[in-house]
Amino acid sequence: MKDIHLFVPTFDVDTCLEAIGHTLRKGWTGLGDQTVAFEHAFCAQFGLPHAHFLNSASGGLHLAVNILKAEHGWEDGDEIITTPLTFVSTNHAIVYENLVPVFADVDSYLCLDPASVEARIGPRTRAVMFVGLGGNTGQWPAIVELCRRRGLKLILDAAHMAGSLCGGRNPALSADVTVYSFQAVKNLPTGDSGMICFMDPAHDDRARRLAWLGIDKDTYTRSVAPGTYKWQYEVNEVGFKYHGNSIMAAVGLSQLPALSADNARRRRIAELYSRHLEGADGIGIVPTAPDCLSSRHLFQVEIDQREDVIVRLNAARIFPGVHYRDNTEYAVYRHAAGTCPNARRLSRRILSLPLHLRLDDDDVERVATTLREIVATPAVVRPH
Ligand SMILES: Cc1ncc(COP(=O)(O)O)c(C=O)c1O
Repeated sequence: MKDIHLFVPTFDVDTCLEAIGHTLRKGWTGLGDQTVAFEHAFCAQFGLPHAHFLNSASGGLHLAVNILKAEHGWEDGDEIITTPLTFVSTNHAIVYENLVPVFADVDSYLCLDPASVEARIGPRTRAVMFVGLGGNTGQWPAIVELCRRRGLKLILDAAHMAGSLCGGRNPALSADVTVYSFQAVKNLPTGDSGMICFMDPAHDDRARRLAWLGIDKDTYTRSVAPGTYKWQYEVNEVGFKYHGNSIMAAVGLSQLPALSADNARRRRIAELYSRHLEGADGIGIVPTAPDCLSSRHLFQVEIDQREDVIVRLNAARIFPGVHYRDNTEYAVYRHAAGTCPNARRLSRRILSLPLHLRLDDDDVERVATTLREIVATPAVVRPH
């Protein structure tokens, strides 16, 4: 019986190797023509005004918070409302900048619940950090409306959302800044990289400087500019080493044309799972918002006795995942434990089923059938 893993990225290997070979032969593997080309292609495909290629989304989220804080004069101790159901880099980005993550609860889509967000707004609230979990846009329009009404900035952690639409439109167009991840198992996999997309051109400019340690001219611009003073750059503020490189960009550029078809296949897999699991007692399917065309990074179900189910799936050579543990269960965020009961309850019950492009329809049926059988049969009683 073959193993069925949660995520297995698929690369257009020949195209990627050709593109990487081109950068190696050229002898320019850093920030350069490939990173610039990827930014342009990404903006064109996603309808975005700006995109800056980075070495990770974690760095991008930090940069987003850093720039908004500086540009809007936020002070240490000011607050950003965020979700506990995410990868920790979402919330670490807030802490890096001496701001306070205030956790709001999630809805049935596993995304921030606007009512809970509104209840958490206080005099020091400056922004909302929204995560489109698994590609879901949840109640995004209500979050956008709330932020506009209450004068809050809106950061979109779109690590899972490459290709997601809300009401037929890229949700990034309603955020102040959006950060995508192209980490190894994301919908647009590279090895490790990300993209930061500000709406404001001045913020995009600043992101480019700060992602390159605060240096006002990147090495590539200097190399193609005329004149003898190319080495003479200025450093006006302390930045970070967050920019992306041409090898990762070459992979991203090679993968980008297939993203729409890849996401369509992911949605087809999700439909098959839904069909096979429909009506199964004890298995709840995490819904997709009605106005969302999801990138389908994840297909999540809700079950009882999850740990036991995982052990039994593993015995059947099926290896699901969990996205995510309620962040307030981690030592660093435990001060907020108990503040988000939905997230706490759901984080103990959710399970992400294998979802990637190497699954055929029979694999999907095997996962769904095995899960149904396991959930339908009482858990094995283990001796104490
Ligand atoms: C929701 C979310 N945000 C941020 C990140 C960070 O992405 P990266 O690995 O590109 O830093 C991830 C990665 O898993 C993620 O799932």
